[in-house]
Amino acid sequence: MDNFEIMKARHSVRSYLDKPVEQEKRELLLAKTGEVNKESGLNIQLFFDEPKCFNVNKPGYGIFKDCKNYFALVGPKGADEAIGYYGEKLVLYAQELGLNTCWAAMSYKKGNVEPVVNKGEKLHIVIALGYGETQGHERKSKTLSQVSDYTESDPEWYKKGLEAALLAPTAINQQRFSFTRNGSKVTAKAGTFVYTKMDLGIVKYHFELGAGAENFSWK
Ligand SMILES: Cc1cc2nc3c(=O)[nH]c(=O)nc-3n(C[C@H](O)[C@H](O)[C@H](O)COP(=O)(O)O)c2cc1C
Repeated sequence: MDNFEIMKARHSVRSYLDKPVEQEKRELLLAKTGEVNKESGLNIQLFFDEPKCFNVNKPGYGIFKDCKNYFALVGPKGADEAIGYYGEKLVLYAQELGLNTCWAAMSYKKGNVEPVVNKGEKLHIVIALGYGETQGHERKSKTLSQVSDYTESDPEWYKKGLEAALLAPTAINQQRFSFTRNGSKVTAKAGTFVYTKMDLGIVKYHFELGAGAENFSWK
């Protein structure tokens, strides 16, 4: 599968099968998590066979069923954009391995998650992981012109980057981000609301995959 196929196939999945992640895939995911931590300085941790995380009586948002694995995204306070960017790397890698995911800011119980959190760090969010009952479904999306200065005379890479950005998960599907372009310099900005900085990191990773990192630089 190419990057676009992976991004298109990914949807948030909240109900999971009672099917353990195979040892081989566990090892690949752990290795990828280590790689991402090395690159970013984050302290992301991966837990398998731990059903407590999503045992919430009345979640503020989506309800999860039978999820037993998750990434705990730990990192320096204020590292929201990096958490989004590197977390989404892991999400798309899991998708490539045939697994399903869902970012969860509110639908889990913080007291039931016990990652190592060093001085100056915090647990920002978790990402559910496993074999979904379904592959999830397409949802509503904003248009290119609602999130950018795009016009039809713009280069193809810009369009592809924006299309990829619109496939990215954002909290409550808010898609509160905006892109502008000046030649090969691209600016991406977060709107103001909850989790928009984390969303921005997620969306920038998608944009890079769609546009091709060789075609532009961030301003
Ligand atoms: C930062 C962030 C936090 C989220 N928190 C939750 C959550 O607490 N509960 C939940 O059910 N979904 C949560 N989601 C999933 C979003 O609702 C979902 O990504 C969005 O509706 C778009 O759907 P899609 O992921 O299928 O494209 C979160 C997503 C992001 C990016």
